[in-house]
Amino acid sequence: MSTPAFAWSKSKAGDSAVTREFACDVRMGLAKSQKELHSKYLYDELGSSLFEAITHLPEYGLTRADERLLRRHAEDIAALLPSRVAVIDLGSGVGQKTRHILRALRGSPPRSAATPLRYYPIDVSADALARCERDLSEVAEVHPIEQSYLDGMACAAAERQPGEAFLVMFIGSTIGNFERKCALEFLRDLRRSLVPGDALLVGADLVKEPDRMLDAYDDPAGVTGAFNLNLLGRINRELGADFRLRQFEHEARWNEQQRRIEMHLRSRVNQTVSIPEADLTVSFQAGESIWTESSHKFQIAELDAMAELTGFQAATRWIDEEWPFANSLWIVS
Ligand code: TRP
Repeated sequence: MSTPAFAWSKSKAGDSAVTREFACDVRMGLAKSQKELHSKYLYDELGSSLFEAITHLPEYGLTRADERLLRRHAEDIAALLPSRVAVIDLGSGVGQKTRHILRALRGSPPRSAATPLRYYPIDVSADALARCERDLSEVAEVHPIEQSYLDGMACAAAERQPGEAFLVMFIGSTIGNFERKCALEFLRDLRRSLVPGDALLVGADLVKEPDRMLDAYDDPAGVTGAFNLNLLGRINRELGADFRLRQFEHEARWNEQQRRIEMHLRSRVNQTVSIPEADLTVSFQAGESIWTESSHKFQIAELDAMAELTGFQAATRWIDEEWPFANSLWIVS
């Protein structure tokens, strides 16, 4: 007798520790007075594809600016680093942007085969790491680490060879998705795995005109809206909930005081939603929102101060002119 595919996949998902943790986070997040859902859950398979689409939107200049800077200045960055260096990439994804740096570090002609360039991509997505390894093994010796940032960093640090410096990449303005205080804490934690002479390349999206930032996070074609709403779809699929996606809308807000874009999902009506796998029934008032992500924007002086506060020295930075975005090279002092 065959079991229906839906029942099979549902019970399988329902049994896993990952799903239980998801259910637990959803339960806690929706119990707060400002309801919230953790942004890491935006990136299931569909969410990751939608985010990939966002990076191609004309309004979302961030990813292209980051890539332009890395492509144009890869040689300059390489020239500032010691010759024996291994690269650690926090949240590498498929490593597309880091490729430019690896190429420059490897040099042309390539350094001798006796000293291959070692590259440690760290990511929570096994799929992304597999693609990363496949695509980049022609430019470096790839050692994928399927871990969170700091655990992965500790793994890489344990493999450091004598006399070797680290270049840690923290690009794409991921730092902006931390609360400002947490960003400092994170940088201090990271610093503990490093030694003087190591370097951190940190990418940060800069404060710009509010309308430009709002368009980047609320594009007229609705891709960002779809990306954000997919989180409710995911809760339906994985936790058996009955969110009606059309009864919610995506909203991006610029918080001037905190200098960040805040993403919300706003209920269009008074409604009640049930989430069986999280043992939860939750009510929404018309206009009430679920907060899904914050994207902090920076000023250059603030970035320099962050370096100093966390045990780094801001050495050099490159800023994109088309879309104000900074990649900064910090040296461990
Ligand atoms: N974290 C990314 C950023 O801050 C991703 C992102 C882009 C995002 N658009 C979004 C997250 C909309 C939530 C909602 O740029």
